[in-house]
Amino acid sequence: MMWTIVLLLLLLLFLFVSTRSRSKNEPPLDKGWIPWLGHAIEFAKDAAKFLTRMKMKHGDIFTVRVAGHYVTVLLDPNSYDAVLQDSVSLDFSRYAQVLMQRIFSVQLPNHDPAAQRAWMQQYFQGESLAHLSYVMQRNVLSLLSSPEILQNPTDWKRDGLFSFCYGLLFRAGYLTLFGREHSCNSSELTAVYEEFRKFDGLLSKIARSTLKRDEKKMACVLRERLWDLLSPAQRCGTAEPGSWQQNYRQHLRDEGADEETQRRAMLLQLWTTQCNAGPAAFWFLGFLLTNPEALRAVKEEIDSLSLHAGCQQRLPLDQLQHTPVLDSALNETLRLTAAVTITREVLQDKTLRMADGQEYRLRRGDRVCLFPYLSPQMDPEVHHKPEKFKYDRFLNMDGTEKKDFFKHGRRLKYYTMPWGAGKNICVGRHFAVSIIKQFVLTVLTCMDLELCDPNAAMPPVNTSRYGFGMLQPNGELEIRYRLKRLNPTSWGSEGSSCSNTAL
Ligand code: HEM
Repeated sequence: MMWTIVLLLLLLLFLFVSTRSRSKNEPPLDKGWIPWLGHAIEFAKDAAKFLTRMKMKHGDIFTVRVAGHYVTVLLDPNSYDAVLQDSVSLDFSRYAQVLMQRIFSVQLPNHDPAAQRAWMQQYFQGESLAHLSYVMQRNVLSLLSSPEILQNPTDWKRDGLFSFCYGLLFRAGYLTLFGREHSCNSSELTAVYEEFRKFDGLLSKIARSTLKRDEKKMACVLRERLWDLLSPAQRCGTAEPGSWQQNYRQHLRDEGADEETQRRAMLLQLWTTQCNAGPAAFWFLGFLLTNPEALRAVKEEIDSLSLHAGCQQRLPLDQLQHTPVLDSALNETLRLTAAVTITREVLQDKTLRMADGQEYRLRRGDRVCLFPYLSPQMDPEVHHKPEKFKYDRFLNMDGTEKKDFFKHGRRLKYYTMPWGAGKNICVGRHFAVSIIKQFVLTVLTCMDLELCDPNAAMPPVNTSRYGFGMLQPNGELEIRYRLKRLNPTSWGSEGSSCSNTAL
């Protein structure tokens, strides 16, 4: 009896200490009715739906309790700079490191986020970008020209579009960044891809610590397996001297990381570099295939580039920079399917000034989060009929890029934000755009690709992925495809690096 009373008192004390009330000038506070957990379950199930409900209830700024944390959500794009431009009171890397530890079990010693960013920029921007894009393109073509397809090039093959796009871009990306330039061990590629897809399937649950017991075991096994597969001893050869991967290891050594940390960090990098492009290519091709008018417009633009001479290894990158229709269609795809939450930790109390002049106090230790997917990307005040795929949404009548979008009569600086913005804007965005465009262009130029059911619609999204970058579908879009050209010699004409690699 005595112990029951003590436990009840402790519980009451815990609830008293762990609850808080809204103070003067703070955003509306919504703790949810479950102690400590607050809104965690609803948030994890479908963050977009939950945040839409909160926005209707509280407006553009509010604080919610999620698994013991207080998160202030800001949904007014005109006010985003108040968060994105403040790296003194608001910190990007602490929360990123929490996730790094939780998802990849890796803690980088002496980690300097600015140095890491600068290091990444060397590789994924500027001069290196052209070389990387070229190697990537060569690897896509090598994979497409594998015997599995070339044996009977005129036969139709069936697949799901998601697995087709993710499979190809992942493998090509892996060969580009992690493989030896001339390595072509297809079983290694297949193993890495399959284990990675299983791991990626658990990712949102790992990040939210909501794995069931057997899933937890599975996540550990997959992590271990991927660490092994990515370690040089297991792979079909050591990395090329001077390659991205070798340099990354050197960068880690310079930061004081031991062998084990280096091994683990490779999985983190595999995820960072490979998890978004495949799903983005899926949505892009999927929207084109289910919108004949858009497909026609994109194909007309491709025809005007006169690339049909053959499926060359090297697509002229300079020509790829003048494709306004393709660019608009890609921007529109990303507007509809890039759904990252931009999260910062509040290092010291801060007054956040909104665009309308209203001021709110943010508490030290809380988190602040932007969810551009809801606004501006899916905001009906910014984009007419936002749920519709309109390939020319980002095109002016004269064919130039449309950049004028408004909310509350104000021209928006941020009208779509797939890459984030400010100091931590995506380092890989130019690389990602380049490989997605190259891939879609290659597929449309060199292959016949069509829906198995001409009336098929896009599958719904997997709602648990809101917040984790590119969305993924819940289901597939069945396609059939074959090579356009009957003459195999026109494939991989500059020398296939991986001609025995199966898809
Ligand atoms: C469609 C593809 C991609 C999308 C939608 C995407 C999206 C994003 C977003 C929204 C952020 C900012 C997160 C924040 O501010 O909290 C980000 C950061 C980052 N992205 Fe991407 N990304 C993509 C592809 C890539 C690729 C291919 C790479 C590498 C090659 C990459 C590397 C990075 C890195 C390193 C950061 C962290 C930047 C920093 O530390 O400041 N991303 N990405």
